[in-house]
Amino acid sequence: WMTDEEFGREMLAGVNPVIIRRLQEFPPASKLDPKVYGNQTSSITREHIEKNLDGLTVDEAIEYNKLFILDHHDALMPYLRRINTTKTKTYASRTLLSLQDNGTLKPLAIELSLPLPQGDKHGATSLVFTPADEGVEGTVWQLAKAYAAVNDSGYHQLISHWLNTHAVIEPFVIATNRQLSVLHPIFKLLQPHFRDTMYINALARQILINAGGILERTVFPAKYAMEMSSIVYKNWAFTEQGLPADLLKRGVAVPDSSQPYGLKLLIEGYPYAVDGLEIWEAIEAWVDDYCSFYYSTDDMIRGDSELQSWWREVRDEGHGDLKDEPWWPQMQTRAELVQACIIIIW
Ligand SMILES: [Fe+2]
Repeated sequence: WMTDEEFGREMLAGVNPVIIRRLQEFPPASKLDPKVYGNQTSSITREHIEKNLDGLTVDEAIEYNKLFILDHHDALMPYLRRINTTKTKTYASRTLLSLQDNGTLKPLAIELSLPLPQGDKHGATSLVFTPADEGVEGTVWQLAKAYAAVNDSGYHQLISHWLNTHAVIEPFVIATNRQLSVLHPIFKLLQPHFRDTMYINALARQILINAGGILERTVFPAKYAMEMSSIVYKNWAFTEQGLPADLLKRGVAVPDSSQPYGLKLLIEGYPYAVDGLEIWEAIEAWVDDYCSFYYSTDDMIRGDSELQSWWREVRDEGHGDLKDEPWWPQMQTRAELVQACIIIIW
């Protein structure tokens, strides 16, 4: 990350290539409740970034799908005051990048924010840094990049990895074992993909995510790590975990029926998406074939009591805190079963 080129590349091909999104509003907005957190809109201005946009205005760059953001502001801001009472000190960061003609991302500005001492509802105080090669500005720019990279690697370990893979899949593993017979076709379909998950999660509870464990000692939220991840979980949606839905939600792809997978990637050199879509397609073809063999009609889905009990346990018990969310598939059709199994396997 010491060079701007590598810093930008890591958003696409580093440890956490799942956060970058296309910027579609300027200045970058916040989804935090203004009644609780005051004004959290970014303080990055057009002047900060237009000098590095090769003659484009901000509006033109947005129109041509050239502006992207690595945004850790909203996830961190509610916890910063508490995190900064521990030995670790950090900021909430927003990193703006432009997609250049050669297909690489170039950082344009980094905003580092803190809550105001008077209280959360007063909003944030922010500093904005822009690229510089030499002197004090060059050193400060390196430090700003370090803070952004620390935000990103901590978010990777805690949220992208622990929460969004290990933790959220556990209810599916448990319900599969409790509700589906070992002879049930969906048990057989899913079971190989659950290999070692419960064992690793049990181990993680002993040494990784426990109080004083490895995670609390190595990632910046320190003793607030688990609490912060449980707050982030409130925004988790099962149906957004599928790759095409995720790419579209982050705006790094747009719907395009003429393209494979029905979408067009706006960043071509994005291995997570390019390779991922090939894997997604292979999973989709296999799951669709497999489920169609066992379930020739939607009635068979509705009439499969083991399958219905399985899905009810996943939703009502395993993910009970989110059981009333509108996005849960109802598990009434083969298409819903296929889609759910693809997402679980992915
Ligand atoms: Fe893992």
